[in-house]
Amino acid sequence: MIDHYAVIGHPIEHSKSPQIHAAFARQTGEHLEYGRILGRLDDFAEDVRHFVAEGGRGLNVTVPFKEQAWQLLADRSDRAEAAGAVNTILVLDGGLLRGDNTDGVGLVRDLTVNHGFDFAGKRVLLLGAGGAARGVLRPLLDAGPAALVVANRTTSKALDLAGHAGAAVQGCGLEDLSGRCGADGPFDLIINATSSGLDGQVPVLPDDCLGAGGWVYDLLYGAVPTPFCRWGREHGAEKVLDGLGMLVEQAAESFLLWRGVRPDTAPVIAMLRGG
Ligand code: ATR
Repeated sequence: MIDHYAVIGHPIEHSKSPQIHAAFARQTGEHLEYGRILGRLDDFAEDVRHFVAEGGRGLNVTVPFKEQAWQLLADRSDRAEAAGAVNTILVLDGGLLRGDNTDGVGLVRDLTVNHGFDFAGKRVLLLGAGGAARGVLRPLLDAGPAALVVANRTTSKALDLAGHAGAAVQGCGLEDLSGRCGADGPFDLIINATSSGLDGQVPVLPDDCLGAGGWVYDLLYGAVPTPFCRWGREHGAEKVLDGLGMLVEQAAESFLLWRGVRPDTAPVIAMLRGG
């Protein structure tokens, strides 16, 4: 019998996960099928139960269900716990479910393994304080930057998120960055985890925020450069990256959890970029 996996979200048609996991399966010789499920907004839990009852072996969870999945599963990994969200469900022997989160590690692997970013000694700015920012905060901290600042349009949310992460993370409002860049020096890496790009916007940042040789990373991706990637180019970023690499890396980490094999992501990223 072939093992079944799927991604569940709402909407779901746009999801690239089936294409990514099919490529991983071909590459590694793993025998599996990976589909997509349009989750019901009012009955996510039942949709998960149904998939498992039919013999499903694992799920990826995407917008808007990641927090609901966290609530649904009592057994969660430390990184899911820290993220407050689950993007990967493992079906264990006996049908028990375990929640994990591979988003943050996917971001860090894209930066470090794929692009050679070294966090040591670097000042990192994370923009946003919603679910996306929370999902990547702990793995970013674990990567060992010299400083990690969370800045958000609504200051209180940044303070709250940083407060939960411990003394190593500072929180502030976007408008506080002007003074901060002057006092502590500019940032070596700015990561955009806001949803501003969906409205064609960028967070308002001081012009001197990005240091010489600094990188920018947008968690969003698209067929054309995102507004924040354009901001990075205009402000002289040495490297401008969108979230497609992170998408493939988080998928690879899920595949590893399920199958015990780590796929090679480079050809899959190239395929999705049309290369
Ligand atoms: P997600 O799950 O994608 O993180 P969210 O929880 O709704 O979505 O959070 C959206 C984030 O993008 C928030 O940090 C939001 O800032 P506020 O907390 O001030 O609302 C941020 N955001 C959205 N549009 C923005 C904009 N135009 N400029 C700056 N930040 C923006």
